Amino acid sequence: MTGKFISFEGGDGAGKSTQLTLLSGDLEALGRRVILTREPGGTRLSEQIRSWVLHESDALCKQAELLLIFAARAQHISEVIRPALLRGDWVLCDRFTDASYAYQGGGRGIPVGFIQQIEAVSTEGMRPDLTLLLDLPVIQGIERSVGRGQGSDRFEEQDLEFKQRVRQAYLGRQSDEPDRIRMIDATKSVESVHTQIWDLVSNLIDREDG
Ligand code: TYD
Repeated sequence: MTGKFISFEGGDGAGKSTQLTLLSGDLEALGRRVILTREPGGTRLSEQIRSWVLHESDALCKQAELLLIFAARAQHISEVIRPALLRGDWVLCDRFTDASYAYQGGGRGIPVGFIQQIEAVSTEGMRPDLTLLLDLPVIQGIERSVGRGQGSDRFEEQDLEFKQRVRQAYLGRQSDEPDRIRMIDATKSVESVHTQIWDLVSNLIDREDG
C-alpha cells in the first residue's frame, strides 16, 4: 500500500473535526489526494449502522453495539479505506478501532480479549500508520461540547464516570503503543494543536518522500 492512514481519537469536545479539516487542507496544498471519512460510517451502509448505534437509545445491548460498529468498520475498510490506500491517497479518519477499545471496552466494560477477537475477524489487520489522540480533561470536553450546543447522542449522554473510563482506556492504549498513537495536548489553542499535529505528520511525509 502506498497511501497513508491517519486516525483521530479523543473524547467529545477535543476539536477533532476542526483539526481534521485543517490537516486535510495542508496535505492537499502539498498535492496529496485526501479522503476525509469517519466511524462509525464512511459508506452508505455504515452510515445507516451509525444512526442505529448513535440514536437507538434502549434497543441495543452492548454486544450488539460492538458487533454493529465492527460490521460498519469491515464495510468501510473494504469499500473506502483499502481502495484509497492502494491508489496512494491519504485517508484521514475521524475515529477508528481504538474508539471501540475506549468506548465499548473502557466505557461499557466489554473485555479487551473479546474486542481483540472481533477486531481480528473484521479488519484484516488494517491499522492506522498514525493515530492522533487529542486528549483533554473530561470536564473541559463537556464544557466545550455544551458551548457548541450540539445535539447529543447515546455516548454524549453518558455520565462522567463513563467518560473518565473512556479517557483512561485511550491513555492506556497510548502507553501500550506509543509509536503509533501520539498524544496531542488538546487543551491548547486551535493553532497550537494544529502545529503539534503537523510536526508528527511531517515525519510521515518525510518517510514517504525518502
Ligand atoms: P464522533 O466522531 O465523536 O461524532 P460527533 O462528532 O458527531 O459527536 O463519534 C460518534 C460517537 O461514536 C462517539 O460518541 C463515540 C462513538 N463510537 C464508539 O462508541 N465506538 C467506536 O468504535 C466509534 C468509532 C465511535
